[in-house]
Amino acid sequence: MKKLRPISCLIVIVLALSSCARHHEEQYKIGVSQCSEDIWRDKQNAELRMGTYFHGRVAMKFAAAYDSDERQVQQIDSLVASGIDLLIVAPNQVQTISPAIDRAYDRGIPVIVFERKTSSRKYTAFISADNYEMGRTMGEYIVARLGGRGRVLEVKGLEGSSPAIERHKGFMDAMNNAPDVQVVASLQGDWTEASSVEATKEWLRAHPGVSVDYVFGHNDRMAMGARRVLAPHFPEARFCGIDGLPGPDGGIQLVRDSLLDASYIYPTHGDRIIDLAVRILEGEPYQKETLLMSALVTRDNAKVLLMQSQELMRQADQLDQLHHQADGYLHELDTQRLVIWMALGLIVLLVVVMVLFYLYHLRKTALQRERVVSTLWNMGPGNTEPTEKTEDTEVEETVREPLAESSSQSLFVARFKEVVEARLSDSGLTVDDLAADMNLSRVHLYRKVKAVTGSSPVELLRTARLGRAYQMLLTTDMSVSEVAYAVGFTAPSYFTKCFKEEFGKVPGDVRKG
Ligand code: FRU
Repeated sequence: MKKLRPISCLIVIVLALSSCARHHEEQYKIGVSQCSEDIWRDKQNAELRMGTYFHGRVAMKFAAAYDSDERQVQQIDSLVASGIDLLIVAPNQVQTISPAIDRAYDRGIPVIVFERKTSSRKYTAFISADNYEMGRTMGEYIVARLGGRGRVLEVKGLEGSSPAIERHKGFMDAMNNAPDVQVVASLQGDWTEASSVEATKEWLRAHPGVSVDYVFGHNDRMAMGARRVLAPHFPEARFCGIDGLPGPDGGIQLVRDSLLDASYIYPTHGDRIIDLAVRILEGEPYQKETLLMSALVTRDNAKVLLMQSQELMRQADQLDQLHHQADGYLHELDTQRLVIWMALGLIVLLVVVMVLFYLYHLRKTALQRERVVSTLWNMGPGNTEPTEKTEDTEVEETVREPLAESSSQSLFVARFKEVVEARLSDSGLTVDDLAADMNLSRVHLYRKVKAVTGSSPVELLRTARLGRAYQMLLTTDMSVSEVAYAVGFTAPSYFTKCFKEEFGKVPGDVRKG
C-alpha cells in the first residue's frame, strides 16, 4: 500500500494538468454543414471562422457535402453524434436534407438554417437574402437593358434547392410583365460552371436557328459557363448572374471588366450567422427569421464596390494575420504554462517521495535499534524469554542482518552487556566506570554504543536496570522498593516513574498480573 503512494500522487498531478488543459478548451462546439464547396462557400467559411475570433469560446467543425444529399445527411448525423452544441446548415435541396435536420433538432440541438431552405419547420432560426426578390430584380433589369424587347435564356441552379426555385419564380414574374421579352429556354444547371456549359451546348445543338440577346444565370459561375459557349455565336448577347463576389474571379470584377453585364450580391455574412449562433447558445433574444440586404452590381457601381470590398478584404486579412499571431503567442504561453506545471508537478512528486522515504527510513532505523537493544538485553515484558523469529516482516529481517553480518559489533555489544549486567545493582555506577571496564575512553564508548544501538550508554544502563527489575518482579517475592534498590535505583519513587515510562504500567501492576 505504501509503495502505491507516489503513483497516486503522479495520477493526481496528471489529472490536475489535464484539467488545466481542458480549461483552455472552447466552450461551444458548432457544426457547419455546407451543401457545396466553392468560392462563395469559402468566403462564408472564412467569415464564420473570423467570427469565432470575436467569440473566443467557440470551436467550429466544418463539413462540405459537395452537392450530394446523401453525403450531407451523413455529415449532419455525424456532426450531431460528435456532440455539437449547435448546427448551422445550408441544405442542398429543400426536401432531401430535412430528416437529418429534424433529427438534430429533436435531440435538442439548436439549428440555424442559412441561405437554402428546408421543407420542415424544425429549425431555431433562418438567415438569408431574399432569393425571389433577386430573381425578380434581375428580370426587371434585363427587361430594361433590352428596352423591353428581346430573347432571354435562363440557366437555373440545382433543381430542388430553394434559391433556384425562388430565383426562377421571381425572374418569371418579371418576364410575365414584359410581353415583348421572350424566354427562349430555362435550362437546368446545378450551380457549377460545367453544368451550365453542358446545358447551353446541348440547347444550342438542339435549336440551330434560335438567337439569344441576354442570358440570366442563377449564379455568376453559370452565367460565365453560358458565356463561354454562346458568346462566339451571339457576340451582342449580354450575360448576368448572381453572387457578386469581391475576389479576383468574383462577379464584381467580371462586371467591371464587362465580362458580365450585371450581378447581384448574394451576401455570405458568416459574421452575422456566428453572432446569431452565439446569441442562441447564450440564451439571449434573437430573431427567428433574418433577411440579409443585398444589391445589384452594374457597370455603374462595380468599380466603387470593388474598391470597397477590396478594402474590407484587406482589413479581414490583417485581422486574420493578427489572430494567427495571437494564436501563436497563446500557443507558446500554453506550452510554457504546461512546462511550468510539469516542473512543479515533478518537484511536488519528488518532495513527496523524499518525505515518504525519510519517514520509512526513520521508522526502519528506530525499529532496528529497538530490536538490537531488546535482542541484546533480552528484557522487558515481551522478552523474558529469548526472542524468537516469529514475525515475518521486512523490518525485522533487516534488523537481524546487521547482527549476523557484523560479528564484531555483536561481540562488542555482548561484552558491553556483560559489563553492565555485572554492575547493574551498583547505584553509583558511572559511564566512566563502564568505559574503564571496556578498556575504552568515555567518549569512544559513547560513540560506539550509540552507533550500534542508537541509545547512549546511560540509556542502555537504565533500560537494563528496568528490564532486570521487571524479571525480578515476576520471579521473586521482593517488594517494589527492594527491587528498585537491587537494580541500582536510589529512590523507589523515581524507579516507579521510570518503570511507568518504559513499560506503560507501574511495578505494582506487574506483581498483580
Ligand atoms: C454557392 C452557391 C452560389 C449560389 C448559392 C445558391 O454554393 O452555388 O453560387 O448563389 O449557392 O444556394
